[in-house]
Formats: sequence, structure tokens, C-alpha cells
Amino acid sequence: KNIVILISGRGSNMEAIVRAQIPGAKIAAVISNRPDAAGLAFAASHGIAAQVVDHKAYPSREAFDAALAETIDAHQPDLVVLAGFMRVLTDGFVGRYNGRLLNIHPSLLPSFPGLHTHQRALEAGVRVAGTTVHFVTPTLDCGPIVIQAVVPVLDGDDEAALAARVLVQEHRIYPQAVRWFVEDRLSLTADGKVRVTDEP
Ligand code: GRF
Repeated sequence: KNIVILISGRGSNMEAIVRAQIPGAKIAAVISNRPDAAGLAFAASHGIAAQVVDHKAYPSREAFDAALAETIDAHQPDLVVLAGFMRVLTDGFVGRYNGRLLNIHPSLLPSFPGLHTHQRALEAGVRVAGTTVHFVTPTLDCGPIVIQAVVPVLDGDDEAALAARVLVQEHRIYPQAVRWFVEDRLSLTADGKVRVTDEP
């Protein structure tokens, strides 16, 4: 299966997926909307096409998303993986990849969607936090949930400490979700439900 991974920065989730060496998965390209994304160097050094579609070069979200889709589709992806991709996507873009577009968010959705998620979790005083992989639908961080992992919130946690604890789990569950997809065990049904089937 051809996989295209979209990043905006560090790319540690992308790296975890690449390093997982999932049988049957070909990481066809890593595409960033930011030319300075650190993750591009890792991709290139692993022989993966590392491309930039700079959102600043386009006059509108629609124009950016059209250029992004064109760049993605050149790789004939079966799956598009958002890994720290920090642009809100248009409904048209999301619809085009319906059922083959995954995102990871560092909270236990539906709690704390959007930005500053760890800070808001700490302010709310939750005792557990975590991360969620979900199919992408037009509403930000609201799509059907594929897999989650939980971590404790410890006394004295600040944003950085909590984020680091959650990130360890992100690096575990994102490759797992991609593996399920590649094994044809994960799908989005016509009525928008996640279906994960047992190992054959
Ligand atoms: C991760 O915490 C991801 O869940 C969030 O942004 C961060 C990206 O980290 N959306 P990286 O670029 O994968 O290292």
C-alpha cells in the first residue's frame, strides 16, 4: 500500500511510522507545508521523496489544498497520514480522501480538540490524558476514533512533561493504526463508523 505522510515540523510520528517498517507499506512521500520542517531531512535520508507545498505561496486555502492534493495524488496513495500537519483542510480536500485520511491528536478526544491541548488538559485538572488516532472528517479533530492510549497526569506536570509522556504513546499507536490499514483490517464504513477486524 502506498502511504503519503504530511508533516509541518519535527516529524517524530512520521519517523515512528517509517521505523516501524510495516510489511506491505511503502512510504511513497513525506510532504510538508513548511520548507523548514525538520522531518524532511529524516525522510530524504531514508530515500523517501521529501516535498514541500508551501501554503504561503497560495492565495487561498482552496488553492493550497488543490496544489497539495495534486502533489499527493502523483504518488497514488492508498492512505494519507497527517502527522503533526498544522493546516486546517477544506471540506473538499477531506472529502477527496474520505476513508483513507488519518490524523493523530495528543488528547483523549473528544476532549480538548484543537490547539494548546495539553495546557487546557492541565487547566481542567484531568487525572488522565492521552492520544487519539482518528479518521479525518470536515470538523477538526472530530472524526471517528480508531485507537487511543492513556497516560496518567502526575503532580507537578507542566505542558512539556505531559506532552513528552503522551508522545511516547503516539509513537506506539500511530504505527499500529497504519499497520491495521495496510493489513486491510481498518476501514471507515459508509455510515461513518470505524471497523477494525481481528487478525486473520
Ligand atoms: C504531535 O503531538 C501530534 O499529535 C500533534 O503535533 C505533534 C507533532 O509532533 N498534532 P511530530 O511532528 O510528529 O514530532
